[in-house]
Amino acid sequence: MTSDGEWYLSDLANGIERSRILSIAADVRKMKAEGKEVAAFTVGDFSPEQFEVPPIFIEELSDAVLANQTNYPPAAGLPELRNKLSDWMKHRYDLDVSSDGIIVGSGARPVLFSSFKLFLEPGDGLAHGVPAWNNHYYVHLNSAVDIPIRGTPESRFLPTAEGIKERISETRVLILNSPLNPTGTCYTRNELAAICDVVLEENSKRKVAGVKPVMLVYDQVYSTMTAKGVSHVHPVQVRPEIFEFTITLDAISKSLTATGLRLGWMAIPPVLAPPVIALIGHMGSWPARPIQFAAAKTYSNPQTLEKYFSDLDMKISERMEVLFSRLDAMKAEGLPVNYIPPEGGIYLSTQFNLFELLDVKTNEEIRKWLLDEAGVAVVPFQAFGLEEDTGWFRISIGAVSVQEIVEAMNRLEEAINQI
Ligand SMILES: Cc1ncc(COP(=O)(O)O)c(C=O)c1O
Repeated sequence: MTSDGEWYLSDLANGIERSRILSIAADVRKMKAEGKEVAAFTVGDFSPEQFEVPPIFIEELSDAVLANQTNYPPAAGLPELRNKLSDWMKHRYDLDVSSDGIIVGSGARPVLFSSFKLFLEPGDGLAHGVPAWNNHYYVHLNSAVDIPIRGTPESRFLPTAEGIKERISETRVLILNSPLNPTGTCYTRNELAAICDVVLEENSKRKVAGVKPVMLVYDQVYSTMTAKGVSHVHPVQVRPEIFEFTITLDAISKSLTATGLRLGWMAIPPVLAPPVIALIGHMGSWPARPIQFAAAKTYSNPQTLEKYFSDLDMKISERMEVLFSRLDAMKAEGLPVNYIPPEGGIYLSTQFNLFELLDVKTNEEIRKWLLDEAGVAVVPFQAFGLEEDTGWFRISIGAVSVQEIVEAMNRLEEAINQI
């Protein structure tokens, strides 16, 4: 065999890029194994030592395993689970797709992959914000044309209606994520309504012209996690007419801090559902049957869930408050750090503007310095498609305790002061 696999593989396989975030996380694990002090602000995962899956989920899961729930589930998901999730989406987001419009997968990823496959032909435009999680990989996997819409600190790094409007005529699928990974910011009602208006106006024109519409994929996997005074908004809550063009993605991975249990779902107008069910079936990417039982039981009790979500918000905000109060104090001392106030999810957009102080040119050099000199492991926005070296990084609080954050901020302040 040749030493690399290129000769054997398809162009698609040869072009698949490895996740940049996972390779940074591997560096952190190595340093920890060597006994170095590092705060793992890198991965969008939850440490089970810090964040607990709802106990009812675990009890129901083990009951289902002991009751021998070990055969294939239906490809779209267990009917009782589809019912409960459909009730939940209606109760929480005013989105009524009925149980026929709910299709479950092993996490958000298979339903995300399926939603692109439903609409994109090779060469179609896939519009997405930058920075944002993983879209550039999906552009490649679908041989789509990349339409990056750049966010700025002024737009809290969210793609705006104006930015989307400029490229809407080339767009077949627009994916939006709110709260946004990696920035921890969320759309307001007005911002989202303005985007829906751009899509609706374009689709009215396309209907007359007999051209396929823009479809909106709305990824809201962090929707239950919002900062004090912030509400998550779903497109149908601001423009009910967007319903027929909207595919909603959600999952327990983030909301129940259950990234390893693998259950996500798509909420789609039921008329569009049959090909998704077939696709999930062909990929075999349905969640394990006991997981589906446990989720059905957990989502039968919205009050318990609401309580779980508000407790979780408190744990997230405890961590965020330490971070931004320390960054504020450093700013007040004149150190070149900055952040965008957190609105949702588990991320903080943080700027380490250390180019002059360190006499370096790239975010990557700053990332390495933060890791080596302060034991602060962060992910540059380049990993989310924003190529400029402006010193912006993602901090994730999913795997760290309050104490670890305090210690990391102490090390950071000291290291910057010593430059
Ligand atoms: C915005 C966003 N969507 C989807 C996913 C994928 O979720 P899952 O682990 O359920 O596949 C992630 C994971 O980090 C995410 O951040």
